[in-house]
Amino acid sequence: MGGRLAGYLGRSSFYESVLGIDRARQREHLREFARGSELFRSLANRLAQAYSGDPARMGAGLKGASLAERLLTGWGPSLANQEIYLLVRSARPHVVVETGVASGLSSTIILEALRRNGSGRLYSIDLPSRSAGGYLNSDGRRERVFLPKELAPGWLVPEELRPSWELQLGRSDELLPGLLARLGEVGLFFHDSEHSMETMRFEFEAAWPHLCAGGFLYADDVTWNSAFSTFATGVALEAVGGLTPGRRGLLRRRVRA
Ligand SMILES: C[S@@+](CC[C@H](N)C(=O)[O-])C[C@H]1O[C@@H](n2cnc3c(N)ncnc32)[C@H](O)[C@@H]1O
Repeated sequence: MGGRLAGYLGRSSFYESVLGIDRARQREHLREFARGSELFRSLANRLAQAYSGDPARMGAGLKGASLAERLLTGWGPSLANQEIYLLVRSARPHVVVETGVASGLSSTIILEALRRNGSGRLYSIDLPSRSAGGYLNSDGRRERVFLPKELAPGWLVPEELRPSWELQLGRSDELLPGLLARLGEVGLFFHDSEHSMETMRFEFEAAWPHLCAGGFLYADDVTWNSAFSTFATGVALEAVGGLTPGRRGLLRRRVRA
């Protein structure tokens, strides 16, 4: 693919070429994700309970009961959840940075994958959205994310995974530069905060210089605007990646600048 966006290549061949893991190991990690079903199913059920019966309480694309059903079934939102598990298990990053936590589903999946790896820490940043119905982002688009007042950001993350987790509350444009400066090198950066042009561009530009060689930039909702494709074009000579089967953007840094 030589530094160009890979586009959609088909699931296992995309993971093989971009993550560098063969199909047998992909299957192994995905079976492991399914076997971790007790943890993930209990999260899904708790989410469903917290949000069910009141559409205004649904948030972050976490559609209560339907998420509970879908989490382990291999389609819809579950594909992106499986994908981030696969990514962390195969890339074995020592340092993961995530923007956008909400209830903490992705945080838990990342932390569980790090636990299985036997090492690594997750640093998350979240500005909780407390208004029912979400908020308008700086592009004027509604972000349907909502955390009821009685729930703390990351409330889903199990106690036993928390020692490997640091959560800061606030805007990513205020907190991310300081966090990255403190951490130095990052193995995986995951954007899932505000999906506006301005915020996405800011986070990609801030995180990229901190990625180690072979490190990953991974981003949700990259089809909302051109921030990811423009950024990917700009780093085309030092990156490989594209739109993943989970419909997220993925760039692997090939060399240090
Ligand atoms: C889509 S949700 C995160 C979902 C989570 N990654 C998951 O998959 O379980 C986005 C979160 O980012 C928060 N957020 C919005 N704007 C933000 C900003 N500028 N900086 C940090 N977090 C922000 C939202 O309030 C919400 O909690």
